[in-house]
Amino acid sequence: MNRWLPDEDATCRLGAALAACCPPGPGLLLTLRGDLGAGKSTLARALLKGLGASGTIRSPTYTLTEPYDTPQGSVLHMDLYRLADAEELESLGYRDWRDQHRLLIVEWPERAGRSLGPIDLDLQLDYLDSGRQACLEALSGAGEAWLRALRVA
Ligand SMILES: Nc1ncnc2c1ncn2[C@@H]1O[C@H](COP(=O)(O)OP(=O)(O)OP(=O)(O)O)[C@@H](O)[C@H]1O
Ligand SMILES: [Mg+2]
Repeated sequence: MNRWLPDEDATCRLGAALAACCPPGPGLLLTLRGDLGAGKSTLARALLKGLGASGTIRSPTYTLTEPYDTPQGSVLHMDLYRLADAEELESLGYRDWRDQHRLLIVEWPERAGRSLGPIDLDLQLDYLDSGRQACLEALSGAGEAWLRALRVA
């Protein structure tokens, strides 16, 4: 599914819509792809807000992960840009994270290779004119349910 995002507001609205349509989980994996500055963190922040994340929303650029409590369960925002390799993810304890969270939101998933495991929904952001083109792809049953709900939202 493609969606044209003419400005930052449109990116935030897509994040909020994804929050409103998010399946219950646990262990949902949403990957956010796109070049530097494409809008991955902007979308992730709107999604976290929409899910009712408590406290300040911080950037996981240096910490790699930032956890949030939401009324529907905990959510982990990950930014793997600075991940050394897949082994580092393993040593951080990734193995247990999917069971422990409703949703993992992962920027720069390509840094982890295949070690993230099966993805539910992939969202690619590409620069186009002065805005962004979003391409969403469901990769599991839960991802398909998520996209179906987004289409009718
Ligand atoms: N649809 C849009 N059209 C134009 N500009 C946008 C759009 N969405 C977001 N932006 C702008 O693009 C920038 C995106 O920055 P953001 O930190 O979200 O990118 P990122 O993909 O997370 O980058 P990084 O890979 O460095 O983490 C912000 O300045 C934001 O205002
Ligand atoms: Mg970012």
